[in-house]
Amino acid sequence: AYLGDEDLTQETRDLISSLAKEKGWLVSEMYQYQGRWHTQALLQGILICQKRFEAKDSDIILVTNPKSGTTWLKALVYALLNRHKFPVSSSGNHPLLVTNPHLLVPFLEGVYYESPDFAFSGLPSPRLMNTHISHPSLPESVKSSSCKIVYCCRNPKDMFVSLWHFGKKLAPEETAAYPIEKAVKAFCEGKFIGGPFWDHILEYWYASRENPNKVLFVTYEDLKKQTGAEMKRIAEFLGCGFIEEGEVRDIVKLCSFESLSNLEVNRQGKLPNGMETKTFFRKGEIGGWRDTLSESLAAEIDRTIEEKFHGSGLIF
Ligand code: A3P
Repeated sequence: AYLGDEDLTQETRDLISSLAKEKGWLVSEMYQYQGRWHTQALLQGILICQKRFEAKDSDIILVTNPKSGTTWLKALVYALLNRHKFPVSSSGNHPLLVTNPHLLVPFLEGVYYESPDFAFSGLPSPRLMNTHISHPSLPESVKSSSCKIVYCCRNPKDMFVSLWHFGKKLAPEETAAYPIEKAVKAFCEGKFIGGPFWDHILEYWYASRENPNKVLFVTYEDLKKQTGAEMKRIAEFLGCGFIEEGEVRDIVKLCSFESLSNLEVNRQGKLPNGMETKTFFRKGEIGGWRDTLSESLAAEIDRTIEEKFHGSGLIF
């Protein structure tokens, strides 16, 4: 549904007619708004979000580029925040066992596209939400309030490969005629839906360095290598109070790739927009790009990584 242009408001149509337009991988049209390339549907979601979303100081917003660990981060932080209400140890009935993480943590611009009048004010406190919106384009109240942002980024080669397979599953016909060489080039140039991803990462990276109490920067790779330690860092940042080691272990295990990807709800389920939940679970590895990218394509992404992140202190 996020790929369509149905249900657009007149305001979105008017704005779209003034924006730069390109044919992109996966989509026949994408539009450049505030420096980023979007589908019409998500662009509308972002516009409504910018206009209507009122952040509260207690809010927690998870931010990622697509395919950078969104599903996993949603599960971990949801389980962490709800560990008293839904203890993981005693649970044959933890919500994560029967519900896909995307249904437990609302996706701001996706919800606003599908239900422009959705009452985020009705969510229990602290409200936990996620977005892919870039730092400069966040709703003003997110920046001015004391709400917390947890940003997760992933090695760009793994992220690209994850996106590549996801797109092919989602839209086999649209992607069939688009060779991987062209997709890598578009990815590196930033002319990719959701891109440029480089700026997205750098902007949150610098925001976390300028204001470490507001933005916590984590990586998929660190989460994978030391999930418990990273979860404790997230818990401390969010002011979650003391967590027992046993609780940490239980949450890490419940949210692991093996555990979540084998649940019935994540193998057979569908989101309300029709997306199959299994598309969010593929391999869940570090360095999995090797079986999809040739050496020269990997080198092309590496050159871009070097060019974009040189001197930033960020290393992939
Ligand atoms: P791969 O395609 O490399 O396997 P997102 O959630 O942002 O859409 O990212 C999806 C990527 O995260 C996919 O990567 C998916 O397999 C991986 N993933 C999903 N759940 C995970 C988990 N619990 N632990 C580790 N990786 C996970």
